[in-house]
Amino acid sequence: MSGPDDSGIGDADSISIYVDDADKPIAQYRAPARFQLDTTKLSDGEHTLRIVAVDALGNAGVRIIPFTVANGPGITVTGLRAGSRVRGSIEVDVNAFGSEEPFDPVRAESAGPVPVWTWVFFAVIVAWAAWYGIEYFPVPAAFRDTPTYAANSALAAANASATLTQAQTPAPVSSQAALGSKNVAGFDYAAQGAQAFAQNCQSCHGADGTGVPGTFPALAGDPVVNGPGNQQIRILLHGLSGKTINGTHFAAQMPSFSQLSNEEIAAVIDHERTSWGNHGPLVTPEEVQAAR
Ligand code: HEC
Repeated sequence: MSGPDDSGIGDADSISIYVDDADKPIAQYRAPARFQLDTTKLSDGEHTLRIVAVDALGNAGVRIIPFTVANGPGITVTGLRAGSRVRGSIEVDVNAFGSEEPFDPVRAESAGPVPVWTWVFFAVIVAWAAWYGIEYFPVPAAFRDTPTYAANSALAAANASATLTQAQTPAPVSSQAALGSKNVAGFDYAAQGAQAFAQNCQSCHGADGTGVPGTFPALAGDPVVNGPGNQQIRILLHGLSGKTINGTHFAAQMPSFSQLSNEEIAAVIDHERTSWGNHGPLVTPEEVQAAR
């Protein structure tokens, strides 16, 4: 009932230390004791240290501590795992290295298969690289129609020339879109509007016009976007602050975009008025010019 941890009668405790099942203790002390266990006298492998303490009244306490001695060289084995099921002839790599030798990676690292996670990691990097290439290789929308990059340079030249009449200008593919009929001198409203929105507005109002609740107002279903055009033209030219929209006060300011061209402002407004379920009357570059 009394163990070596008990205090109070410690001075009178006698401690005997045994290794494995030996009958004779390797040492005997009075508590508290400190001793050296020389493991080089033991064979490598499993052993137990048994400590028996006896107090002045003759009560004995026993503590058994299992431990493993490893004084010999370390051994690595590849090709055969504990408990694995094998058949036929198998190749097993064995290596041994002692602690007194300098670390030698070639000796210490036995050949082994490449771990699965390495392949997974590799595949992720390849996929990312492919995505990056696909995402960034195409000419950015802003330059797609310039003479340098246009797939059809004749079309780009035509688009650049404001003197051409609409009849002479080859219709851009996206003229089939809702706003295509509003092309002026080859200016493609649908494409420019979406592009100008992505470049100037999306960071605050969101790609899908939902804004950021409490911070930037949603443009989907917004009363200004669905109302008469003049108000929205004014907001884009002069910015907006301190307005409560649909019951929410926005601390952030809407910056002015007067640096954009009349066409770009009209295009981005018309993009918002025809996106995300909005149905506002469309505006023209002339109306933007008139409001400047
Ligand atoms: C830096 C963030 C930011 C950017 C960029 C931004 N806006 Fe805004 N926008 C706001 C904030 C904030 C408000 C609300 C201001 C207020 O309530 O006083 C707002 C309000 C508006 C409104 C008025 C909504 C209403 O009901 O009154 C419209 C329309 C609008 N933005 C369109 C645009 C367009 C188009 C662009 C791109 C050319 C754009 N915004 C770019 C932050 C931004």
